[in-house]
Parts: sequence; structure tokens; C-alpha cells
Amino acid sequence: MPNLQKSPFEVTILAIESSCDDTSAAIFQNGRILSNVVASQAVHKLYGGVVPEVASRAHQENIVPTVDAAFQKAGVQKQDIDAIAFTLGPGLMGSLAVGVGFAKAFALSLNVPMIEVNHMHAHVLAHFAEDPKPPFPFLCLTVSGGHTQIVLVENALKMSILGETLDDAAGEAFDKTGKLLGLDYPAGPAIDRLATQGKVRFDFPEPQIPNLNFSFSGLKTSVLYFLKKEMAQNPYFISENLADICASVQDRIIRILIKKLKKAAKQTGIRHIAIAGGVSANTGLRKTLELTGQIEGWTTYVPRFEYCTDNAAMIAIAGYFKFLNREFAAHDVAPMARMAF
Ligand code: KG4
Ligand code: ZN
Repeated sequence: MPNLQKSPFEVTILAIESSCDDTSAAIFQNGRILSNVVASQAVHKLYGGVVPEVASRAHQENIVPTVDAAFQKAGVQKQDIDAIAFTLGPGLMGSLAVGVGFAKAFALSLNVPMIEVNHMHAHVLAHFAEDPKPPFPFLCLTVSGGHTQIVLVENALKMSILGETLDDAAGEAFDKTGKLLGLDYPAGPAIDRLATQGKVRFDFPEPQIPNLNFSFSGLKTSVLYFLKKEMAQNPYFISENLADICASVQDRIIRILIKKLKKAAKQTGIRHIAIAGGVSANTGLRKTLELTGQIEGWTTYVPRFEYCTDNAAMIAIAGYFKFLNREFAAHDVAPMARMAF
């Protein structure tokens, strides 16, 4: 059971993340991330998207070597662990089950408590892995392959969604338009790179969604029709204009995101604005956020690249806050593909 005599600064946590197609393990100690090892699954490129069964199998193969590497890198012994934090959901059931099952077995063998973590809370709390840390309350735009949310973060354990996507996530908008352009999955990083070499020349319509919600499925459809029309006249249209198409699609996605973020900041009066999730690795979004912040008088927070995409360091941070609050998981806890925020 947890050693409650220890100072909170001495707590050592092993964290496990396996919600989608990255197997990750991290060690957190004395308020710092000592290691954050990620094993990515390149195999999904062959299929143009994550295949759940394949992901689950790859997690099984990767989990033990990934955890071993996290211990080795951190220079920490298994006996030093005070608790094991793991992603409970949301995510792919078969992927989550590998991490949850591993965390249970390991926690039982070490006789330490387990801490269940909501993956989307963890993306937000990734900001506490390093300085500068945002002060509460702050707003966080969480943009990933499965989610697009504007989150009001009142404290580490109290957050609420002010707006979210009604259909595709921002990451899906990158990945699905990338697929139309013949780019490998996940296409976000490639579109980001190509966009830096291109010009914003093509205009894609802005979805008219009220309040702070988003919609990205119309963008994918308009890119599809645009490409069909252009390719009918010039079969080399994509290859001849790839960088400009990428710059234009990315620009539209960024403008949709920033517009709603500005609206949320105005509505709440909050001027500490953060971004998180895989799409927050996008250089165009990072730059636009910084520029918008200068104009609007915001203080902006952008995580280091390795803390943007899925990683166990963010699970460790979220787990630490719950550890301080003595929130531990029961041994019969089961993964949740969908999970209330
Ligand atoms: O947070 P994440 O690693 O996994 C999920 O929880 O979904 O996010 C993955 C998403 C993918 O859609 C990927 O294309 C996107 O993040 N992504 C990017 C960039 N790096 C990753 N999108 C745009 N620009 C990037 N540099
Ligand atoms: Zn994620």
C-alpha cells in the first residue's frame, strides 16, 4: 500500500500508456520525469490507419521491453516504485487492455497501488512536466487524432469541456486529407513539413458551427471534390502543387482552431492559453498561437514535442496529482474505450 510517510517530493511513479498505437512507459520521481520511452508502431502505415488488432498485438510485444528501457534510463529499481499509473481510457479496447493488464500484474507483484488516468486529462497535464507551468485557471486546446476539445482547467483534478468536435478530430483532418494526397499515415507530420515549403493558394470553406464546437468532416469532403475537379483537368495536379495544397489545408485547420480559441478566451476572460495533443506538435499551429497570443495579450503554453503526441510522461504527471489526492484504482478496474471527461 502507498507509503504515506514519504514527502510528496520523494514519490516514484511508473506510468504506462497504451491507448492507441504507441506503447510508452515513464518514470516520475521528485517532481521530475526521469524517463519517457515510446515504442511507435510503424506497421499501421501499410494499412493507411491504425488497425486495432494489429495495435493490440504490437503492444503485447513492446510493453515489457519499453518498461525495462524506462527503468534503465531512469536508473531506478523496481523496488523504488510507490505506485503505477496507467491509461484507463478513452482509446482502443484491445490496446488499453494490454496496458491495464500489465499495470495490474505489476502492481500486485510489487504490492503498490494503481492509479487510473483519463488519457485526455493527461494530455492537458503534460504541461506540468516542465516549466513554465500554466497557472490555474487556464484554457487548453487539446487536438489529437481522436479528439478536439477546448478545456477549462480549474485545477489538476477539475476540468470541463467548453467545446469539442461534432465529427472528425483535427488530427483526422490532417490524416484523411493526407491520405487523399497519397501521404503515409499519420499524415500530420508530413503535411506540417510540406506546408513550410508551400504557399496558401487554395481556399477551403470554413464550417459554420455555432458556440465553441468544431467540425472537420466538411473540410475533408471539400478537399476531395477540389482534388477530383483539378485532377480531371491535370492528372499531375497533386504532385505539381503538393506543398501549396498542404499549406492551404493546414492554414484552414489552424484558422478554425484559433478562431474558437479566441472566442473561448473572450467568453471566459482567461488569458493563460495552452495547446496539447499530437496536433500541437504542428509548427504552423505553434507559431500562430504565439502570434495570436502577442496580439490578444495571452500568455501561451506549448509542450515540448515529445509531450505532444502520446506518451507515458503525461500519464505519470496526471497520476501524481491523483496520488497526492489519494485516488487509487480498484483491482477489478477494466479499460474504457469511451470515458466521461
Ligand atoms: O495525441 P496523439 O499522438 O494520439 C491520439 O491520442 O490521437 O495524436 C496523433 C495525431 C495524428 O492525427 C497525427 O497526424 C497528428 O497527431 N500529428 C500532427 C503532427 N504530429 C502529429 N498533426 C499536424 N502536425 C504535426 N506536426
Ligand atoms: Zn492522445
